Amino acid sequence: MTNVCAGPFGAFYDVYIERPWLAQAIGRAAWGIDIAPLYRSMAAIAELPDGATVLDVPCGGGVALRALRPGQRVRWLAVDVEPKMLARFAARARRRGLTEQAGALELIAADMRTLPLPDATADVCLAYSGLHMVSEPRAAVAELARCLKPGGALLGATFVAEGSRRQRALLGHGVRSGQNGPLVAAAELRALLEDAGIAELEIAPERGLAIFRGRRAG
Ligand SMILES: C[S@@+](CC[C@H](N)C(=O)[O-])C[C@H]1O[C@@H](n2cnc3c(N)ncnc32)[C@H](O)[C@@H]1O
Repeated sequence: MTNVCAGPFGAFYDVYIERPWLAQAIGRAAWGIDIAPLYRSMAAIAELPDGATVLDVPCGGGVALRALRPGQRVRWLAVDVEPKMLARFAARARRRGLTEQAGALELIAADMRTLPLPDATADVCLAYSGLHMVSEPRAAVAELARCLKPGGALLGATFVAEGSRRQRALLGHGVRSGQNGPLVAAAELRALLEDAGIAELEIAPERGLAIFRGRRAG
């Protein structure tokens, strides 16, 4: 597959996703989605206790870092297949006081379908706007679940098939050109997550952007 985030689109995406007002305008105009629930769902990150391990897949340029409280001491494992995104992530993380030197930040260049991490690594796994990027979302979900500790939380968002005709057309073109994976319906997303062992699932598939949360069973 072609990773569009490796080129100018990745830089553009990174600029607008960091500005909720702009992301809202672009989300509505291009995709017909309401992106505000995505930012709201990240608020749970601020509740993590010091010492918690966060696995952020794909981390992109670091939009989830915005939810950290000042001084919150977590260990953040940032995974992305694109080195430029990891570099942007690193710059943002350091500005928020997360550094590799202090053991608070690990940058991992990897494919989300084969994570180079041991089982049960993370207390919380973030999966924002990544599952629709890959041709095998089932493999990615299985890896996220494997790397979560039993009882650990999964938070994320992904495009789903319940969106507008325009969104389906754009993403359908992306599938054909290898820029994104297939669109799954919210019910299929639920089945993928449950099959991977994620329980207590809440999925809100409003306007083609599903916000989901759950816990690894066990
Ligand atoms: C739309 S961005 C989302 C990033 C971030 N979570 C956010 O919400 O802004 C998608 C990211 O997925 C990464 N990506 C695409 N395919 C990937 C793969 N197979 N494994 C890991 N990362 C991938 C891209 O490099 C890009 O940074």
